Amino acid sequence: MSESTTTTRSEDATAVDAGSETEFVFVGGKGGVGKTTVSSAYALECADAGLETLIVSTDPAHSTADVFEQEFDDDPQPVEGYDGLSAMEIDPDQEVEEHLMDLKRQLNDQLSAGMVNEVDAQLEMAHQTPGAYEAALFDRFIEVMRNADPYDRVVFDTSPTGATLRLLALPDLLEGWIDRLMAKREHSIDLYEKAAIGNQAPRRVMDGDPILSRLQARKERFEFAGEVLRGQSSFYLVLNPDELSIRETQRSLAQLRDADLPVEGLVVNRLTPEPEPHEEGRGATYLRQRVETERERLERIEREFDVPVVATIETRVEEVRGSLLEEVAAELNVSVN
Ligand SMILES: Nc1ncnc2c1ncn2[C@@H]1O[C@H](COP(=O)(O)OP(=O)(O)OP(=O)(O)O)[C@@H](O)[C@H]1O
Ligand SMILES: [Mg+2]
Repeated sequence: MSESTTTTRSEDATAVDAGSETEFVFVGGKGGVGKTTVSSAYALECADAGLETLIVSTDPAHSTADVFEQEFDDDPQPVEGYDGLSAMEIDPDQEVEEHLMDLKRQLNDQLSAGMVNEVDAQLEMAHQTPGAYEAALFDRFIEVMRNADPYDRVVFDTSPTGATLRLLALPDLLEGWIDRLMAKREHSIDLYEKAAIGNQAPRRVMDGDPILSRLQARKERFEFAGEVLRGQSSFYLVLNPDELSIRETQRSLAQLRDADLPVEGLVVNRLTPEPEPHEEGRGATYLRQRVETERERLERIEREFDVPVVATIETRVEEVRGSLLEEVAAELNVSVN
């Protein structure tokens, strides 16, 4: 990290170690629990502490745009009104489409015209599977990681799914798989070379083989991602104080643990605010009962999950944006260092 990219903005900026490499923070959780809200608030905290921060959103509904009341796209742009904070939005559907076009282009160069249509049809089908969506998105995440040099902290609104993580967290398995594919490819090139000796001079086609080099590049990308995820990343999960959300969090925790990527902390969002002691009537009674139920659930979360609850956030009357976001950020109380 060069000095010039780490501008000193406030008094507490000096407390931050500006010399270290980029850190990545993934904020996961099921639909609607508050990932965008929490990751935006956290990114704001980081920027306020003097860290050059990028928030990366993959939300098709573009809620980062809603939170900051500004449009973003594929390229990081400064967030207006917040020093040291940039944002970008990745459109997963567009990523899958581009991934597909890319593959087609490469195959067109390598296949005879007759086979192209057949392969196109197969590829179209393969890209309708959920795995393709995740693979394309994750490739994009890796690109962001590779270009993260200008930032001290990159916050991903949405952690990769369990399936993708397992793939990345098992480098041995993955490397073994790619190595086998590479060996197969080498073997078939070898056969081809031997067969060619009959009618013409043998050609060395192994060097510069496009498929081999693609496999090699893919292996290196995954190795890089695995290293970043294990060495420079932390994971947080957001949940709500309801039974469904608690169960789902339990599953995600297990998945991430299986992938050897432990979750650092849980953020419980949307807790019911307690009425003032003098307040009475049905509304107040209802709120007190809810508060009590949620308190029991929170205790259970703290007792049963071996991951600490690092923040609790109350439900606001309105959507979290603008000054309300700063209020929530203060409530987060997570160390940004
Ligand atoms: N503590 C809160 N108080 C009031 N509103 C909240 C709170 N947390 C989140 N919200 C609102 O709830 C909605 C969903 O929150 P958010 O967009 O952060 O969830 P998400 O997990 O990112 O959702 P998605 O899975 O759709 O991306 C938003 O309109 C947000 O403003
Ligand atoms: Mg969201």
